[in-house]
Amino acid sequence: MRELGRVFDSVADAYDAGRPTYPDEMYHALSEVSGIQLAGATAVDVGAGTGILTRALRARGSRVIAVDAGSEMLARLLSKATDDGIAALLADGNALPLTDGVADLVTYAQSWHWLDPVVSIAEARRVLRPDGAIVGCWNLAHAAEAEWLAAHEARLAAECPTYWGPALAEWSVPPIAAAMEVVEERWIAWTRLVGIEDFLLNLRSHSYMAALSPEAADDLVARQRVELRKVFPEGVLYVPMRVYLAVGK
Ligand SMILES: C[S@@+](CC[C@H](N)C(=O)[O-])C[C@H]1O[C@@H](n2cnc3c(N)ncnc32)[C@H](O)[C@@H]1O
Repeated sequence: MRELGRVFDSVADAYDAGRPTYPDEMYHALSEVSGIQLAGATAVDVGAGTGILTRALRARGSRVIAVDAGSEMLARLLSKATDDGIAALLADGNALPLTDGVADLVTYAQSWHWLDPVVSIAEARRVLRPDGAIVGCWNLAHAAEAEWLAAHEARLAAECPTYWGPALAEWSVPPIAAAMEVVEERWIAWTRLVGIEDFLLNLRSHSYMAALSPEAADDLVARQRVELRKVFPEGVLYVPMRVYLAVGK
């Protein structure tokens, strides 16, 4: 468990402060496609991290069981939980410590690609009620929409040995749709307005940055800051984003 959670635990503060939330349209699409109203639903949020999706589901009336392998990530999630409608379990998403048929939704927000692609989906099906749904979503910077963003990603690709993102020709969204039997996919475009420092905090929360030495990460962030300031001297970025949403069984 310690091993599984380690990558993100080391950047839990940056994750909590820097990562964007998901746009409202995503929650509408999730309900529309799944036929499940969030108010009153029970969701198991696997790889819940610091609780970005967990809190949003709770705010929309779901009871949420947040599961994560990282104790630091879960500690931040719990510190921000507003009521007892959120429960947290330190566990492997490939072996959920839950009985069969307890959930309306099993959600993987930016997390399914860390799990076993077959075992995780079998576990999700086991804990779902018969009319429940599996949800995968990824909030992605849309590099093809802005030259500055493509250049930013290209610098990351050149300097981070474990970089995985839109600067690579072979990059694609995680194949969760192929892991399910019935599935509907949506792409939801939105624009993130964010200060340069928060954008750089977000950058530090990526696993390919966490894999660098602290000195190399600091140096790369400093150089990215210089390049971003050339394009956005006022310090606020307009980041073209898109959410990939897959809802299935
Ligand atoms: C990129 S973060 C996503 C966090 C959050 N869902 C969000 O949307 O911001 C991925 C999370 O998956 C967790 N994780 C990785 N492998 C896991 C596993 N096998 N079981 C449970 N959680 C896992 C990590 O600890 C991390 O918190």
